[in-house]
Amino acid sequence: MVVGLGTGSTAYYFIDEIGRRVQNGTLTDIRAVSTSSRSEKQAKELGIPTVNIDDVKHIDVLADGADETTTSFSGIKGGGGALLMEKIVAQISRKIIWIVDEAKVVDMLGAFPLPIEVVQFGSWGLFHKFNEAGLNPSFRKSGVDSLFITDSGNYIIDLHLNQIPNPAQLNFELNNVVGVVEHGLFLNYPSVIIVGKEDGTTEVMERPEQREEV
Ligand code: A5P
Repeated sequence: MVVGLGTGSTAYYFIDEIGRRVQNGTLTDIRAVSTSSRSEKQAKELGIPTVNIDDVKHIDVLADGADETTTSFSGIKGGGGALLMEKIVAQISRKIIWIVDEAKVVDMLGAFPLPIEVVQFGSWGLFHKFNEAGLNPSFRKSGVDSLFITDSGNYIIDLHLNQIPNPAQLNFELNNVVGVVEHGLFLNYPSVIIVGKEDGTTEVMERPEQREEV
């Protein structure tokens, strides 16, 4: 089985458990594709065999976190800055599982800032464009003085929107901005959402329709 390893504080525990099962011999025939340098490092330290994404045709199951999700299987990702690789890995995943806590399940997306990964060249121009459009942009920082740089060498501009009433329209518009590499709107992505609750129980939401065969 080829497993996609998500990124973030939730995916961390998934990777940890995969590592435990590899080490105790429960999982023997497994290869993993990571969605960030962080997850790759963790997998390697745990002895999980990792492969390059271009060495596999598809991924059987990808487990990842999300920053916000609706019950209609769309969400915001990229709070940890790994949205580009997460979306690329998701494209070739047959089954996508999101693991979230109940506070992340929302009726409308947008309270969480929407991350936009942009190329460094001309990024201030994009910032001004977003600002003029009333999208409340801010450059993601890393420490006090420096800007956050993604694994692919890009910047992230977070849009503080509060509400995204029409995610499909915003998705379309952002996909057409030159200089935007990718954005954190993941519309109709997960096949399954596992919600961890305050009382220790979990709720599993399964999307009725299947993802397209990849
Ligand atoms: C990484 O870029 C993100 O998409 C994470 O998957 C998402 O932010 C969830 O992270 P946490 O599990 O740390 O909340």
